[in-house]
Amino acid sequence: MDSRNGSVSETPLDAEIESFFDSAPPLKDSAGIIKKLKEFIEYNSTPPGVSCIDRSVNAGKGSPRRVVCVTSGGTTVPLEQRCVRYIDNFSSGHRGATSTEYFIKAGYAVIFLYRRGTFQPYCQSLPEDPLLECFECSEDSTIQVRQPHTEAVKRAVSDHHALTVTMSQLRISGLLQAIAGGHLLKLPFTTIFEYLQILQSIAMSMKDLGSLAVFYLAAAVSDFYVPWKSMAEHKIQSASGPLDMRLVQVPKMLSALKKEWAPMAFCISFKLETDSKILLEKAEMALKKYRMHMVVANELSTRKEEVTVVTGNEKILVCRDKTQADSDVEEPLIELIVGRHSAYVKDSDL
Ligand code: PMT
Repeated sequence: MDSRNGSVSETPLDAEIESFFDSAPPLKDSAGIIKKLKEFIEYNSTPPGVSCIDRSVNAGKGSPRRVVCVTSGGTTVPLEQRCVRYIDNFSSGHRGATSTEYFIKAGYAVIFLYRRGTFQPYCQSLPEDPLLECFECSEDSTIQVRQPHTEAVKRAVSDHHALTVTMSQLRISGLLQAIAGGHLLKLPFTTIFEYLQILQSIAMSMKDLGSLAVFYLAAAVSDFYVPWKSMAEHKIQSASGPLDMRLVQVPKMLSALKKEWAPMAFCISFKLETDSKILLEKAEMALKKYRMHMVVANELSTRKEEVTVVTGNEKILVCRDKTQADSDVEEPLIELIVGRHSAYVKDSDL
């Protein structure tokens, strides 16, 4: 029994993974997160034109929406329980946020699991401090959008509100199913503990979607951590001299995800290296070892220009359209993924 999710595992998680979850501090508002996930998935897996309440009666009237979990940003590893210091993993969140926009455009509902403070979908053309730079106070004390930012603010606000409208808002407005919102659920994390616990809850919630579920794991996940129980409670004192600390390996959750949490889902993991000579070899290894459907290989310095998608029998180079100044590599990447996922869904239906 997995007590955190209140669900039963068919096979026990392997010892390393079990020990990670056992030693993790309890996730704040775990019940609230699971409730949000349940409502979001129920809403989006109800075929259009069918009331959520009558779902079982009306099943089969249309196609349920595909749901993708996009992870984004880097996880932190706290060094103290009352955390003052932590080890961070590099990721601006650009890949995850931009990919989310293309998945939504392709008709998917997105669960966006993101690191607090990183890039957000629909906000990328806004300046760094939108509140102070985009708005001004007029003489009659009303707040106005300043001219150069009008279009960017309009787009960010309208797309954000249309997509992230909450389930309770939908119910109150009585427009459940009738409006185009409710296709983006954002869940924030900071630490490796939060990230993996929420990812597990998402995967368990998406299990019944079968092949309609996709995992797009673009977050930069810590490889080493300090187990909660062996972590200092208070701020580590520098007066005690040099710091000698043992970090334990974070178990790769990709195998648990594939084997137990959501076995029918279409899974895409990422491989990041700074040495291009080992990149493709490592991506191929990950594809086989974790039985991923695709591994997106990227090198740190060129990650915004090109990626190589490694599948069972291909290596596909995907590049940004360099003839267009504002093009991005995520557009052709998501197009490729959507095509492969469609073929996978079709095969699974046979
Ligand atoms: O956010 P940007 O600035 O736009 O940058 C995007 C990116 C470079 C961060 C992104 O494209 C990317 O490569 N993300 C994956 C980074 C990473 O963690 O790579 P890795 O090679 O260390 O791990 C490979 C895979 O294993 C990842 O999909 C990760 O989800 C998974 N993993 C890693 C560690 C761990 N303990 N468990 C895991 O499951």
